[in-house]
Amino acid sequence: MTREKILSLLRQAGEDYLSGEQIAASLGLSRAAVWKGIDRLRARGYRIESAPGRGYRLGADNDALSEEGVRRYLRHALPPLQVYTSIGSTNTRLKALAEEGAPEGTVLIAGEQTAGRGRLGRSFYSPAGTGLYMSLLLRPALPAAQATGITACAAVAAAEAIEELSGRKTQIKWVNDVLLEGRKICGILTEASLNWESGLVDYAVLGIGINTRVPAQGFPEELREIAGAAFDRQLPELRCRLAAAVLDRFLDQYEHLAEGRFYEAYRDRSAVLGREIRVLRPGAEPRPALALDIGRDFSLRVRYPDGSEEELRSGEISVRAEQG
Ligand code: BTN
Repeated sequence: MTREKILSLLRQAGEDYLSGEQIAASLGLSRAAVWKGIDRLRARGYRIESAPGRGYRLGADNDALSEEGVRRYLRHALPPLQVYTSIGSTNTRLKALAEEGAPEGTVLIAGEQTAGRGRLGRSFYSPAGTGLYMSLLLRPALPAAQATGITACAAVAAAEAIEELSGRKTQIKWVNDVLLEGRKICGILTEASLNWESGLVDYAVLGIGINTRVPAQGFPEELREIAGAAFDRQLPELRCRLAAAVLDRFLDQYEHLAEGRFYEAYRDRSAVLGREIRVLRPGAEPRPALALDIGRDFSLRVRYPDGSEEELRSGEISVRAEQG
């Protein structure tokens, strides 16, 4: 495609400008076709700088999402990887594709979601340009109980990928939120379909949403105190690199999911161990507890003030503010 060939030339040129004439000659195109190609790339979110008499170059802060961009950084070979400028929800769309028989490893990535979904029926704020929203289709052939590691594995993959690219240390709030300096920067929603006859998971759609930067207008009021962004500066092709890093790290571990090799990495990042928490249950008062330990099945052992203990396997907790 002309657009991709122009992009590839601009990438090769790095910080140097390429004139429209040079691009046209290298690709055997007319000057008009080059202008059109540049316009299309800009419409897709690529920052292409132009200087009179010098030509064009990719802006250093370019952060457009594209299949080609993600594949440039991705180690694993994956089947279809579809990138959308905007979509309702990557999880919703991928579930429909899974029902139609899409292969394991199908990935949908979006730069914006207009109906992003979170856990427990909530919505997930997914504005354009400052987040990475992606879903990966898995067909793990595991009993549902063993598939719970998928979410924990994804939390570790996201935490490590963010740390690698940002140089900042993250934490994981049980069960699957990635935090930076106490603020949520990444949420994970895994939706599975069970085959009742075999008792095995038919497919699981793993959805990961990362706030890469603070939106220009800030987070909406209700998120202002709790949400944060993984990066405080713009890196070239940040979201493509981040998508590839998360996917690669997840897929490295997914091959041995049942062994749970990522357990220590998960536990070490825990934002809750040893802390006073509240166990939240629909229709019930929040119950204060102490977070004691995380099991190898990623359950959270808690102790209530009356001395009784419980292993939480799913649900939600809040971490109480530090005393004093
Ligand atoms: C949560 O924190 O409650 C989970 C948020 C999960 C958000 C991701 S973004 C990609 C995928 N598509 C969705 O609609 N949701 C998940």
